[in-house]
Amino acid sequence: MTVLVTGGAGYIGSHMVWDLLEAGESVVVVDALSTGFKWAVPPEAKLVVGDIADQALMRQTIERNYVDAIIHFAGSVVVPDSVRDPLAYYENNTSKSRTLIDAAVKSEVKNFIFSSTAAVYGDAGLLPVDEEHPPRPESPYGLSKLMTEWMLRDTAAAHNFHYTALRYFNVAGADPKGRTGQSTRGATHLIKIACETALGKRRFMEVFGNNYSTPDGTCVRDYIHVSDLVAAHRLALERLRSGGSSMVANCGYGRGYSVKEVIASVERVHGAPIDARPTSARPGDAASVVADSSKARNELGWVPQLDDLDKIVESALKWEAALQFRNQR
Ligand code: UFG
Repeated sequence: MTVLVTGGAGYIGSHMVWDLLEAGESVVVVDALSTGFKWAVPPEAKLVVGDIADQALMRQTIERNYVDAIIHFAGSVVVPDSVRDPLAYYENNTSKSRTLIDAAVKSEVKNFIFSSTAAVYGDAGLLPVDEEHPPRPESPYGLSKLMTEWMLRDTAAAHNFHYTALRYFNVAGADPKGRTGQSTRGATHLIKIACETALGKRRFMEVFGNNYSTPDGTCVRDYIHVSDLVAAHRLALERLRSGGSSMVANCGYGRGYSVKEVIASVERVHGAPIDARPTSARPGDAASVVADSSKARNELGWVPQLDDLDKIVESALKWEAALQFRNQR
């Protein structure tokens, strides 16, 4: 049996592929290489360069490789971009997922793990949010993912098809073994930007908004190490394969850090100050998003191993420093 990983040449997907291979799984990656990199796919995995919306290609890939489970990462992830160009997000994240789910059903793949997001909650207040909290996405990005969750729910009700949607909080850091990391060109994520600034790849960075209803006025997020997130996927895969029912679960540590606290961590780990300039708030940003991950811990048996902001930052900085020497693509 083979696991199909869509978006396996991307940031989180490539960590997943390394993890699956280490666990002895056979892996096929489908990636259009629009933001991912060929080099990010380990040579032991099969890479099919293509679009998940190409249903003939997907069905052929599933059937030829005896795929029994799909882990679906491919998609667009930048909240402000989704505000500027909502239809691109509904196309890439919702329509294309619909086609992929349809291919899975037609080719009788019963196990499906989906990259969802904390952005489905919108601004949930300062307390950790659990899966019962009513979703109120504040960006087209969040809604594009929520609609896919709903398609999965309805598909599971109608067919012999089981899914786990993992709602990621703020994923950061890099593979502790240094094999892959966040390499996306033009990435906008806070820890990546702060690391680039620390390493002199940009002269300064901006802090978006300082008037939020949070302790220091900057936005609070729950930063989770990518390797802990990947571990949750593998547990979800084992659970689905052994007949577990469909579920939605948060993946975060349950503790929030403000933008200022993250910048302070990067300065601490790097050992030098960063030029961080306050500017106006970014459209679509919620003040605070922190996970209650009791469900993942209780039902998946998830035990995070890398819950330490400075360690996340340390791995991200190390990868960022190594990245400049990589021959991309
Ligand atoms: N930020 C800055 N300066 C920067 C970059 C970010 O101040 O240069 C701030 C943002 O305004 C926000 C916080 O840092 O307050 C985190 O921003 P990110 O762009 O790193 O992440 P988001 O919270 O916007 O979104 C991320 C992922 C989504 C996911 C969401 C869940 O991009 O996929 O976390 O909370 F849904």
